[in-house]
Amino acid sequence: MTDVVSSNRAVGPPAAGLRGSTALVADRLCVGVGNVPLVSDVSFRLGAGERLGLIGESGSGKSLTALALMGLLPDGLRATGSVRVAGVDHDLVDASERKMAKVRGRSIAMVFQEPMTALNPLMRVGNQVAEVMLLHGTQPDRRSARAAAVDLLERVHLPDPAGAARAYPHQLSGGQRQRVMLAIGLANDPAVLVCDEPTTALDVTVQARMLELILEGVTDRGSALLFITHDLGVVASVCERVLVMYGGRVVETGSVAKVFTDPRHPYTRGLLDASDLDALDASGRLRTIAGTVPGPGRFPSGCVFRNRCPRATDECATSPEWVTEGDRGYASWHPVGAEDG
Ligand SMILES: Nc1ncnc2c1ncn2[C@@H]1O[C@H](COP(=O)(O)OP(=O)(O)OP(=O)(O)O)[C@@H](O)[C@H]1O
Ligand code: SF4
Ligand SMILES: [Mg+2]
Repeated sequence: MTDVVSSNRAVGPPAAGLRGSTALVADRLCVGVGNVPLVSDVSFRLGAGERLGLIGESGSGKSLTALALMGLLPDGLRATGSVRVAGVDHDLVDASERKMAKVRGRSIAMVFQEPMTALNPLMRVGNQVAEVMLLHGTQPDRRSARAAAVDLLERVHLPDPAGAARAYPHQLSGGQRQRVMLAIGLANDPAVLVCDEPTTALDVTVQARMLELILEGVTDRGSALLFITHDLGVVASVCERVLVMYGGRVVETGSVAKVFTDPRHPYTRGLLDASDLDALDASGRLRTIAGTVPGPGRFPSGCVFRNRCPRATDECATSPEWVTEGDRGYASWHPVGAEDG
């Protein structure tokens, strides 16, 4: 298989090495199928206990980035680059399944959008929570693991945790199943919890409670959080920093406060405008980003956003270099600023 193409130019943010207070470092992470790049040069650092949002339209590469961190890419997709996690003495990219089985659910865990596909339908949920602790040896025997599982189900505020532990997944509601997934994710106090649209499939009233539980869970354990969502309001309430992805690339990153109030990248500006339900264009229509996200391998060369970008010039046929401004950064030849509104 052809390697995923990764250019030598600095088109993504730089990543620092794994230091004492660091939970995870991704460095030039790429994912591809054959010679089609799907994720390119994604680099970021997650501080211990830090909460980082990952946003971008559908098809931006958010889930593939998460799956690459977990070593769970679908068959045929290949990752290159480097991913280091606190407490693990090897790179997660290209680690054998035997090694990854020791890391997954222990040092890095994930909550998916649809818990029904992640839970075993034939196993009582208490046993599924207990299993992840027995697997990693964080409980000495089955009896104590079962007791710890009920305790965990209580800590995610499932009503009647002992009864829930005896239930099969189909006997629980969607919101309850998602709490079980969170209990499994947090069972071994991971350095990093990855949540991919964890509340999208839930009723609005259940969503807010689930977000509180996620926040409480990571805060109690000092776990770092990588939170993927389409909902910028959720990022603003849950996360400290944000990564904006488009076309498989990180196009902007910085504190939520700066990026959401004073974005530099035209794509981020577009996302913010499109998320504002009161924002109308000159003809009174709701604003959206013009055009649609190209399919895999169909993004333009140079700047991946240039076929949709209102500021594009001939210069944009060349990939924009990564610009660092203090603790934020972006890749665009013609950044927007506060004066652009
Ligand atoms: N197994 C696969 N084989 C080939 N292409 C894939 C595969 N999985 C995903 N892709 C493509 O990779 C790109 C990124 O997909 P990804 O699922 O990471 O997007 P996303 O940002 O999570 O989108 P969404 O917001 O819809 O979940 C998309 O163009 C998608 O079609
Ligand atoms: S590099 Fe050019 S096309 Fe890309 S976002 Fe910036 S202005 Fe737009
Ligand atoms: Mg996704």
